[in-house]
Amino acid sequence: MAAPGISLSDLYIGSIINVYSRQLKLVEYGNLFTRQQFESTSERTFAMVKPDCYTQTGKIIDAIYQNGFTISKLKMSKFTQAQHADNFYSEHRGKPFFSDLCAFMQSDVVTGMELVADNAIGKFRDVIGPTDTNEAKNSCPNSLRAVFGTDNLRNAVHGSGSASEFSNECGQFFSRSFAPTAAFNNCTTAIIKPHIIKEGHAGKVIDMILQ
Ligand code: CMP
Repeated sequence: MAAPGISLSDLYIGSIINVYSRQLKLVEYGNLFTRQQFESTSERTFAMVKPDCYTQTGKIIDAIYQNGFTISKLKMSKFTQAQHADNFYSEHRGKPFFSDLCAFMQSDVVTGMELVADNAIGKFRDVIGPTDTNEAKNSCPNSLRAVFGTDNLRNAVHGSGSASEFSNECGQFFSRSFAPTAAFNNCTTAIIKPHIIKEGHAGKVIDMILQ
């Protein structure tokens, strides 16, 4: 049946929707047919704002919304143990830049997000551009890495390269091992209200707070 105010883009696992004043959390597909229909059009990827771009987090989140993604999970955390970077970047273990990569990832906070969109993995890779910032500046000057990155290592943003990378990275980052950064000391609480999230303006609010 039609539910006023709900559109197809609101329907993804983890979403909280309001149907006739009842708040419902979508936890699973109703059946195999529905799963196949939705999974063929709506994919998930893992995005991360790296330590070099902490102050640009709002602008990057705004670009994520402008490019048509829904943010279904978000956490600010820190690679506090050597093991975090070692596990997260295990495919790069043994490469010459690996120890610099681990040190860089532990140098400040990161913001990890699960994004939902049609073809989210490929689409987000296009939005962030090539790994090397200098190459990004030449070949994709509007990409996030061209705009916010510095070099091959400090390239501002990460995006999963495949569905298996997504489930591995998202599973690690949203586990208890990656603690949230709330200090509960000299803090206040700011709540970004639902209409701002729905209208895709959360990045602008975070940017104003950080500025
Ligand atoms: P990303 O693709 O998000 O994940 C692996 C990271 O390793 C990559 O971003 C860069 O931060 C880093 N990296 C990859 N290749 C190099 C390189 N040749 N020199 C330095 N850092 C690199």
